[in-house]
Amino acid sequence: MSLSDRLRAELGDSGVLEGAAVGARHRSDMSGTGAAMPQLLVRPRTTAEVAAVLKVCNAAGASLTVQGGLTGLAGGANPGSGDVALSLELLQGIEEIDTASATMVVRAGTPLETCQRAAAENGLFLALDLGSRGSCHIGGNLATNAGGIRVIRYGMAREQVLGLEAVLADGTVMSSMNRMLKNNAGYDLKQLFIGSEGTLGVITRAVLRLHPPPGPITTTLCAVASYPQVVALLRQAQAGLGSVMAFEAMWRDYFDFNTRALSLHFFAQTHPFSVILESTASTDVVEAFLAQCLEDGLISDALIARSQAQVREIWSVREGYPIETLPNLLNFDVSLPIGRIGDYAEACTGTLIARWPAAHVSFYGHVGDSNVHICVSTLYCEGESMHDVDDIVYGVLGRYAGSISAEHGIGSVKRPYLHLSRTGEELALMRRLKQALDPNGILNPGKVI
Ligand code: LAC
Ligand code: ZN
Repeated sequence: MSLSDRLRAELGDSGVLEGAAVGARHRSDMSGTGAAMPQLLVRPRTTAEVAAVLKVCNAAGASLTVQGGLTGLAGGANPGSGDVALSLELLQGIEEIDTASATMVVRAGTPLETCQRAAAENGLFLALDLGSRGSCHIGGNLATNAGGIRVIRYGMAREQVLGLEAVLADGTVMSSMNRMLKNNAGYDLKQLFIGSEGTLGVITRAVLRLHPPPGPITTTLCAVASYPQVVALLRQAQAGLGSVMAFEAMWRDYFDFNTRALSLHFFAQTHPFSVILESTASTDVVEAFLAQCLEDGLISDALIARSQAQVREIWSVREGYPIETLPNLLNFDVSLPIGRIGDYAEACTGTLIARWPAAHVSFYGHVGDSNVHICVSTLYCEGESMHDVDDIVYGVLGRYAGSISAEHGIGSVKRPYLHLSRTGEELALMRRLKQALDPNGILNPGKVI
């Protein structure tokens, strides 16, 4: 029997697609780096069906690429040539919300936004949030340990998980659906699967931890003259504004490019830094805080959003879709000790501009949690120069003890650089774990390690 027939025997004809029936979107995640179509697309509807698929593929030595909402930026969901793509899109739905323990049981293929809404309808709050909320899946969020805009207050995706169910390469269902905040009974096995990008097992269900709703959020945009003042503003805000819910910095080139393209206008003049500061403090408290910051010379200008429309306008600059139109744009996602991000940005820009004087280099991101994104367009250079950009961005990063991936993961795109952020011993242990859990190497080969 062919692989396709064996999979059909488990999932029925509707669960296995082949050839032209497989949509082109299954070639790549949002990094656009996928080059091969999968030979088959399987869409299991239950954990038992996922287990059956893995058993069949493991016995056949067939490589599997796991796919969620395909919103990743590191090529982690790109199939290799001849791979089976395993999509979790039909394994979706919220099974239960328990308001007493503030937990949600959810299937992997459920869109993040659906989970957020369900939590809110039950008077609770799911603290994970990112731009692709409408299309990313919770399974993918956990497999990549996604970050996003609320990490500064609630931590990464990992911190929102109490329990997990995952299927191992040989089809073993590893159910660890813990619902307690405290449970120190042996190894915390779920952590093997969170952030391992589908290389150690396939996440099928999870118990998420929910929070009380944070209440109204005040959104402000602050103009700041230097990076040390950006950091000082962060610490003052955390001391004086209750819960800081977001702290996103945009360097001048990024902010000016996007505001111009969006025909928005916030300040009378341009500034080296613009910061989105969100907190749970009331408008009055925030007003007094900003007045004090202005008087102390910590900020140069500021505005408070007075309507949801204004909140959306401010965030639209941060989300930065205009900048995506620059030719040959490369996106980076690095983290560094917060105090060093400003110097790193300067050194990195200087080195890139020395090499490509016409390049557009801009920085933005979740600076409050040590993460900065970099957009580099060398304009019309292609091919080899793309790797030279990687070498410069990561080379300079090494001098500042940074990490080559803050929140997007390693996938296939950053795999050649993993050794820059991990020791030989760490890499060797990763390989031992991979060998122990997936001895035939069928799960997402070519990803992470
Ligand atoms: C963001 C994505 C790129 O922060 O991580 O917008
Ligand atoms: Zn980000």
